[in-house]
Amino acid sequence: MPKIAYLECSKCGNHVSAETPQTLCPLDAGTLYVRYDMDQLKRSARRERPAELAAACAASLGMWRYADVLPDATPVSLGEGWTPMLRSRRHANLFIKEEGTNPTGTFKARGLGLAVTMAKHYGLRHLAVPSAGNAAGALAAYAAAAQIAAHIFMPQDVPLANYLEGVLYGAEVVIVDGLISDCAKLVGDTIRLQREQDVNAEEIWFDISTLKEPFRVEGKKTMGYELVEQLVWEYPDAVLYPTGGGVGLIGMWKAFDEMEQLGWVSGKRPRMYALQATGCAPVARAYDEGKAAGEFFTDAETFASGLRVPKPYGDAIILDIVRKSGGSVVASDDAEILASIREWAKDEGIFLCPEGAAATAGYDKLLASGEIKSDERVVLFNTGAGLKYTDTVADAMHLRRPGSLPTSLPVGGIITPV
Ligand SMILES: Cc1ncc(COP(=O)(O)O)c(C=O)c1O
Ligand SMILES: [Zn+2]
Repeated sequence: MPKIAYLECSKCGNHVSAETPQTLCPLDAGTLYVRYDMDQLKRSARRERPAELAAACAASLGMWRYADVLPDATPVSLGEGWTPMLRSRRHANLFIKEEGTNPTGTFKARGLGLAVTMAKHYGLRHLAVPSAGNAAGALAAYAAAAQIAAHIFMPQDVPLANYLEGVLYGAEVVIVDGLISDCAKLVGDTIRLQREQDVNAEEIWFDISTLKEPFRVEGKKTMGYELVEQLVWEYPDAVLYPTGGGVGLIGMWKAFDEMEQLGWVSGKRPRMYALQATGCAPVARAYDEGKAAGEFFTDAETFASGLRVPKPYGDAIILDIVRKSGGSVVASDDAEILASIREWAKDEGIFLCPEGAAATAGYDKLLASGEIKSDERVVLFNTGAGLKYTDTVADAMHLRRPGSLPTSLPVGGIITPV
């Protein structure tokens, strides 16, 4: 595994040492990227491995098969990454990257797996996160594996699974009557207070918020490596990604940069599409208005809870990538998202999470408008397992437990033993 050469500010290019834990650029609060000595990597990083080792890697190493391009630390792993790439049964050139098979059921495992690995490496004792739900679950699991304390803050109406996993994994769970932005403020205020009150250095929480530390992006970049490897080292024409904070999209773009520098892939990069929910679409709005960054999206509401991020910290980076790549931002409303969940379940046997269904609903629109052609190769991210959302999807379908229904249903119903 390579040493980190330095952390680089995504805004001003300032170099920051990775010898100690870092959050944001001290000059302008820009997000920090991990940088390696690429000349050295060119000599040491291997793209191909002996066949039997490759097979073993695929089965067990997960995202750590890319250890050659990840920071040098002992992994805290629960088996994250190397998720299936499923071909749609109805659209011959559409591939679903099924992230629901990750530990804790979502792609958040990649970013938090690496972030907790590095936290352990640095000897941090307390990690705090504001979360739309799934990041909290993932942090709680990895923190338990690393035996580090986790403090998670999430909105009160997150899917029950998110609340349950926080409690089960032994995190401190704070339920907030508000959105992820309110949770973020509470985390920030608490840390500020701890500093003012001269709390012991190792007791002060480390803020592991999206894009406010370098390693969640670094973990999620493995999605970019993986999708290219699974397409036998070729780029697809387009990547569709449900976007809340945008970490995955930013991470994949970074992966493409690195892979090109390493000579692992060449050709035209995919067009990057960010898919949002109409009820919380700050990036779509900024895109439509031709703005460089988004504004706070008031009264955010959608059952795609992971997309309920009213002001993504990295909105300017997301918009830049989308525009540079020739993609766009498309939002779908909850009715369209639910319709897409039902359609994919019935027609393909795939229970999409609502965020993933925002991407499939967006794909339908992009096909209809001709922005994506049916013969173009597209990779679409189902970022989580639909099964994490049984309560919220059932609510959206007005479905209740059979026990609360009349027993004389024409089909199915309840069978009472005689
Ligand atoms: C299932 C799911 N999909 C997508 C997102 C959005 O992720 P990102 O912050 O990478 O845009 C989230 C965030 O919580 C999520 O939980
Ligand atoms: Zn900076």
